[in-house]
Amino acid sequence: MVIPSLAEPRSGRRLEGRHVIVFGAGTADAVEKRLSLCRESDKVFGVGKATALVYARHGAVVSCVDINLEDASRTADLIRREGGQALALACDATLSDSVMDCVERSLAYNGRIDVLHNNIGIARTGGPVECPEDSFGQVIAVNVKSIFLTCKWTLPVMERQGSGSIVNISSFAANRYTVPWISYAASKGAVNSMTMSIAAQYAAKGIRCNAIAPGLLSTPMVQVAHKDNHAGLADMMRSRADSVPMRWQGEGGTLVRTQHSLHRMTHDSSLGRYSPWTVAVRS
Ligand SMILES: NC(=O)c1ccc[n+]([C@@H]2O[C@H](COP(=O)([O-])OP(=O)(O)OC[C@H]3O[C@@H](n4cnc5c(N)ncnc54)[C@H](O)[C@@H]3O)[C@@H](O)[C@H]2O)c1
Repeated sequence: MVIPSLAEPRSGRRLEGRHVIVFGAGTADAVEKRLSLCRESDKVFGVGKATALVYARHGAVVSCVDINLEDASRTADLIRREGGQALALACDATLSDSVMDCVERSLAYNGRIDVLHNNIGIARTGGPVECPEDSFGQVIAVNVKSIFLTCKWTLPVMERQGSGSIVNISSFAANRYTVPWISYAASKGAVNSMTMSIAAQYAAKGIRCNAIAPGLLSTPMVQVAHKDNHAGLADMMRSRADSVPMRWQGEGGTLVRTQHSLHRMTHDSSLGRYSPWTVAVRS
């Protein structure tokens, strides 16, 4: 798919003046190189990179955070090339001090944090028997603890402001079986539970918390996670597409089409004070 340029019609710059912090905005291009994929760059966009771009296209200032500064910088550069405003930050979101430092630097850059977007996620396959214990722990740390930590350090900022919105990226895997990936399914179930819990606790303080549960998307993260379970990349792509009723997966850039959902979740006037909801981007 082609990511539309800033010049193309859009539904307005309703996030003008807002500051969004996107954790997991990098999508390592290095992944693409490792897999020797010859694809147009837009097709290997991960969700985080596409999301950061969409926020910027709607006027938001974006802090692009990733474990790898080079990758975060690539996304921030892309935003700046389109005329947007962005800061790149390195952070290991499984470490409390690292997240705290990142939130402080982001705050110093813009003075407020209107939206916390938790995109970080990794997937490892294997059921309870096949999944090594350390792999289980790693997935829970990256997919669950990272959200706990980003919320821990961002919620006080939003509370002081009296407003804020948190968007957590969950997965259809929380509710539907596709392949044995016990750690991933458990982690996304936890994301949904944390979302509901935070939404209820902070509703009266003007802070909203919602989750998006995408279906199958062909992104670099998935290509790495699943490639060993198939005869090759083409086989993996075919098999994943075949498991979707419409016979095709989305791509990272598919999230561009969910701008409306992001607007609804991040625009103050759009939702009631307590309305945790889940959007199936593609199933
Ligand atoms: N791709 C799919 O089919 C699919 C389906 C459903 C849900 N999702 C979810 O969507 C989200 C994005 O997936 P994606 O495949 O587009 O990935 P992505 O390309 O957006 O990559 C996620 C980013 O998180 C970063 N990251 C990983 N660990 C980190 C850490 N400890 N600290 C900081 N950054 C870290 C990675 O470097 C990467 O840039 C994930 O939460 C994923 O679980 C993906």
